[in-house]
Amino acid sequence: MTNEILILPGDGIGPEIMNEAIKIIDVCKKKGLEVILRYAKIGGDAIDTFGVPLPNETINMAKNARAILLGAVGGAKWDCLDIYNRPEKGLLKLRKSLNLFCNIRPIFLYKQLSEASSLKIEVISGLNIIIVRELIGGIYFGQPRGFNNYSGIRCGYNTCIYDETQIRNIGRVAFEIAINRKKRLCSIDKANVLETSMLWREVMCSLAYEYKDVELSHMYIDNAAMQLVREPKQFDVIVTDNMFGDIISDEAAMLTGSIGMLPSASLNNEGKGIFEPCHGSAPDIAGKNIANPLAMILSLAMMLRYSLFNTKLAERIENAVSNVLDWNLRTYDIAGDFKTRIISTKELGNMILEAF
Ligand code: IPM
Ligand code: MG
Repeated sequence: MTNEILILPGDGIGPEIMNEAIKIIDVCKKKGLEVILRYAKIGGDAIDTFGVPLPNETINMAKNARAILLGAVGGAKWDCLDIYNRPEKGLLKLRKSLNLFCNIRPIFLYKQLSEASSLKIEVISGLNIIIVRELIGGIYFGQPRGFNNYSGIRCGYNTCIYDETQIRNIGRVAFEIAINRKKRLCSIDKANVLETSMLWREVMCSLAYEYKDVELSHMYIDNAAMQLVREPKQFDVIVTDNMFGDIISDEAAMLTGSIGMLPSASLNNEGKGIFEPCHGSAPDIAGKNIANPLAMILSLAMMLRYSLFNTKLAERIENAVSNVLDWNLRTYDIAGDFKTRIISTKELGNMILEAF
């Protein structure tokens, strides 16, 4: 298997936070990690150079790579483009072309950050949830889609569609994760209204027969959104579709103090994946050296664990993050109270190296 890692810094704060992750990779290489870094363009960065958000070269390099580390895509600069040529399309197309159906988002509260959350400490202390989001189906990709014009009145339409194989594939991953944790899985849907959700629920129930040790529950998305802020610790593993997963993962991220803390892995059946922070490109703070690089750095840890099977280095990175938080060093988004010192993106990256 190749040992190439494809680096896609992307847009906005993407390149800045990626620099900090690369510093860590360089140190890992000195400690014996055998990887070769390749670089390519995606999103607005690719549009500016090639006129398209996902050049063929990037797709080919991604197909050849063992894993992909991605910063962020998008920004106001490209919002004027039509929906088919926006930076986000590049990311969606890449997910689809690599068959990355499974998106794993760990919602984990570092105890040092419990004051940075907008929720009461007792509601969130010890929080540790995994969201398993289906990533290449549902309303994001369903056909037909488009715009129409009926006698001068414009309309836009999308199709939400899932077949049972897609649901079973993501369900199976979620059950496997649940069985190795607290053996509780909550499937989130809108089965009181949507046919796709009714099928979703049926398939999840049929899988439950194969995983008798796992306690499966179901929740409607509107209720789940409310329960996540009311009593988040009732959840352990959550499985849900593409659109609901997109929305509740941002909500859940905020429970941990800042969306700047949340990494993610998007995987296919062979364990190949894109590892990226859940936050976006944050164009308002891009280039200011103030963005939080921790979600990017924690995404690197996920890459080491899930694609390179190097648990040791992954744990070292996670421990380094925890140590730096112990030292009360923070970027402004997780600053919290007066005891902490606010430092820059680069300084935080350097501190992680020091703690490594
Ligand atoms: C995410 C992002 C993407 C998504 C965007 C950038 C297309 O919000 O990864 O959650 O909607 O999947
Ligand atoms: Mg999102």
